[in-house]
Amino acid sequence: MEEVAHQRSEEEASDTSDAGELEPLNRPEAEQPNAGADALNGVSKPSEKGAQPTKQRTKSAWRRWLTPSRFCCFLSALFLVTVLLLLSAGGLWAYKAGTPLYGESDSWYPSPQGGTVEAWRQSYERAAALVSQMTLVEKVNITTGTGWSMGMCVGNTGPVDRLDFPSLCLQDGPLGLRFMDNATAFPAGITVGATWNKDLMYERGRAHGFEARLKGINVILGPAMGPFGRLPAGGRNWEGFGADPVLQGIAAARTIQGIQAEGVIATAKHYVANEQEHFRQSWEWGTPNAISSNIDDRTMHEIYAWPFAESVRAGVASVMCSYNQINNSYACQNSKLLNGVLKDELGFQGFVQSDWLAQRSGVAAALAGLDMTMPGDGLFWQDGQSLWGSELTKAVLNSSVPMDRLNDMVMRIVAAWYQLGQDDVEQWPKPSEGGGPNFSSWTKERIGKLHPGSPDSKETGVVNQYVPVRRTAEGGDHDDLARKIAREGIVLVKNEDKVLPLSRNASGHPSLTRDEKLRVGIFGEDAFNNPRGINACPDRGCNEGTLSQGWGSGAVELPYLISPAEALRGRFDSQFVDLTYWPTNVVQHVDGTASAQELCLVFVNSDAGEGFISWKDVKGDRNDLYPQKGGDELVQAVAAGCGGKNESGYPVGDTIVVVHTVGPTILERWIDMPGVKAVLIAHLPGQESGNALADVLFGDHNPSGRLPYTIARKEEHYGPSSKILRVANGLAPQQNFTEGIYIDYRYFDKHNITPRYEFGYGLSYSSFKLGGLFVHPVGSWTQEPKRREASPVSPPQLDRHIPDPEQALWPEGMQRLRKYVYPYISTAAEVKQGRYPYPEGYSHIQEPSPAGGGEGGNPSLYETLVSIQARVNNMGPVAGDAVVQLYVLYDPDTVGYGNKALDLPVRVLRDWTKIYLEAGKTEGVRFGLTRKDISYWDVERQNWVVPRGRITVCLGFSSRDLPPTACSTLPHVVAEPNP
Ligand code: BGC
Repeated sequence: MEEVAHQRSEEEASDTSDAGELEPLNRPEAEQPNAGADALNGVSKPSEKGAQPTKQRTKSAWRRWLTPSRFCCFLSALFLVTVLLLLSAGGLWAYKAGTPLYGESDSWYPSPQGGTVEAWRQSYERAAALVSQMTLVEKVNITTGTGWSMGMCVGNTGPVDRLDFPSLCLQDGPLGLRFMDNATAFPAGITVGATWNKDLMYERGRAHGFEARLKGINVILGPAMGPFGRLPAGGRNWEGFGADPVLQGIAAARTIQGIQAEGVIATAKHYVANEQEHFRQSWEWGTPNAISSNIDDRTMHEIYAWPFAESVRAGVASVMCSYNQINNSYACQNSKLLNGVLKDELGFQGFVQSDWLAQRSGVAAALAGLDMTMPGDGLFWQDGQSLWGSELTKAVLNSSVPMDRLNDMVMRIVAAWYQLGQDDVEQWPKPSEGGGPNFSSWTKERIGKLHPGSPDSKETGVVNQYVPVRRTAEGGDHDDLARKIAREGIVLVKNEDKVLPLSRNASGHPSLTRDEKLRVGIFGEDAFNNPRGINACPDRGCNEGTLSQGWGSGAVELPYLISPAEALRGRFDSQFVDLTYWPTNVVQHVDGTASAQELCLVFVNSDAGEGFISWKDVKGDRNDLYPQKGGDELVQAVAAGCGGKNESGYPVGDTIVVVHTVGPTILERWIDMPGVKAVLIAHLPGQESGNALADVLFGDHNPSGRLPYTIARKEEHYGPSSKILRVANGLAPQQNFTEGIYIDYRYFDKHNITPRYEFGYGLSYSSFKLGGLFVHPVGSWTQEPKRREASPVSPPQLDRHIPDPEQALWPEGMQRLRKYVYPYISTAAEVKQGRYPYPEGYSHIQEPSPAGGGEGGNPSLYETLVSIQARVNNMGPVAGDAVVQLYVLYDPDTVGYGNKALDLPVRVLRDWTKIYLEAGKTEGVRFGLTRKDISYWDVERQNWVVPRGRITVCLGFSSRDLPPTACSTLPHVVAEPNP
């Protein structure tokens, strides 16, 4: 069996029952009255032997026994016991203090029902027809996972066999299929972001969805758009697409459209503001509560929620709430963010699932808008004590959770299933006809246990069918697609003396005239595969050999890995080129080897991952932004000596540096060295690493990647609040997002800091020019969007009647597996009556948000208000892709609603296009700016508002390369107050 990832001991976790007197959730033994009493008796009972000593004898015996050294020991022991008692009391207090049920974030109730938009109407109608036939326990079964490793996937819901509604299989995501055979290891999200290629974003999603469907996966746990990248060292930034809301949003939307075009449910995760691994969840990092990301409303809208809005607009059918707290309320029970922002304002129609064990309470989470608990386990891994399952059954039976809410949870899940066409038995055969997952996450053997997580699991069957999925019947080749994405995700940041592209046969190099072979050295462990095997570390949780992905649940088994060294060996013509390898980062004696080369390629990297794995002292989040494993020293040593030195002491040979990295990496220790001629940021390329790199190095692909974040000169330049919080500053560590909307390039621009390479930057072997800019306002320039209209569709209403508890009892004779999560109760007496402590604001019915009304928000937010056209010309000698980026800038005196002062970023990315141009060719590009694109979030109006002031639209090739001729200020259009 594979190592069970994520698992923690029970002692580490805390309990949180929010069912009050009504629903005492099961507590760990230690907390029960009299627990452990026997054990205590065992040590404290006096011995029976030698009984009845006289008082006198006892006294003198004591005197004799209590020598000074013994007295000293006695005092020390007393001290130790006192300290231990105090610590346990503190621990018990922290433990009892437990999870805040509702916390401090604003409340938003009741949870809006799904089924309010035309695009989902049919699915909801069909769901209503099915769900209305379900019993209470059947409904609960659909909302609750069966427990970690109780089925074949990382998440498995309970089925309703009677009505042919299957157990849903949920599997990671987001760069490929986790724990899988014969599937593609695609480039990671950050690499995809760096391609700036919207078509490839879609195609990768589609291929991901295709592979999932063929493996019997209903729900992919991706794409990731949180973490957003606020902290450059954040361990999981690489799973998402880059540190800008529009880049994240468009990439996420395209990925979702691709996945869902294959009929697989995509999951937008992690909602929201889970920006670092340290303290991401309770107890994992020693604190009883997870970190709280404290964010103001405007920042939430303009930065963190933006990509989720785009995902909802793209029709995403699932959203995963994150581990952390936001404004001191857990993400999975934060009613403001789930009920308010996601379901009301953004009009989300699908279901909210918890991250794995991110649910911290039963009733509170249901009321706040959680629809599915994953993996079903409650506060602890694999103890069979779910916060839902039978607890939810009881909570509905005693009406703590209204039947309407349960109906809505189930409707959202079943409607999503219909919406994606998963009722089509051709595409999704029934389990009885060979459907369902055809792989096991827990073993590579063909035959295995069907419920490996349960100690009672005896039943075995064929669990792995090894279905190959890397090619489609229509000839689609995912290896090829992975290569295209990987090469477009490589950003060329330096190319002095046009050292690149390289020639296969060294043509033009002086070595040829000497009739000698060109001597090329390949340096660094990162150019070679891990000698222990490409999948040697579980969940890729180590940095050994060439870096192709980060680690954690977002990593996958590599079917193969083309290392850079292997690809270069295949690509250089051995008749003209001699290769020398230096497969380590050891610098001792490297100068000798370097000086014997004419061209030196050095490989360095920087790795990170999910916090449940640590590699050396990297506990998920990176410790710093420099290359790891002595990479800087290696580059310095090679670059200083490559090709030997001339009379002035400069290296004669050229050094090319390749950086495989999870995110922003500081290059300052060598970037300006005279020998360093070219630098490529190759990100996390997946299985096709070497081939993709060779395509760029040799010019088969003209480099077209652009930075999806800023590369600073110093770590401090990202700002004082850009550091990982590593030492807990409270029982629930607090992280204040004081920089607000000023993240990454917005921070550099605001504070006038010159980065080494700015957001959006990247070189090509060609050069491009923009011209013919034409910008004009269109549509109606009111300050706010149109008034929100009543929902065109009403959610179907199901029976609210609470059934007789007898109907929820265990079916007679049913075999029960220990630790498996079931929806049944043992006796009707378990259903206690009383008053549930509803949160403040629970009975206050919220006004619908004026910014809502459709998927992604008020449809009027997406009307075009500015139309833009321009021409782009390839002026260089070779064909290539131009990445034309569109930024919006505001005059400094721009004011907000009611003419109040307004702080606005210097410029913000609002769209881009990647266009392929033959040498010398010119083509037109077009853009449209929506109302939302030019608005800011007004906290008082609780709406998007077009500010008053002059708006300038700039096209360019990076956030700092916006030629004045490609900028145009809109005629002075003043947004009018709404009629
Ligand atoms: C991660 C999620 C992942 C889940 C299931 C969690 O630890 O945060 O991103 O989808 O595990 O593997």
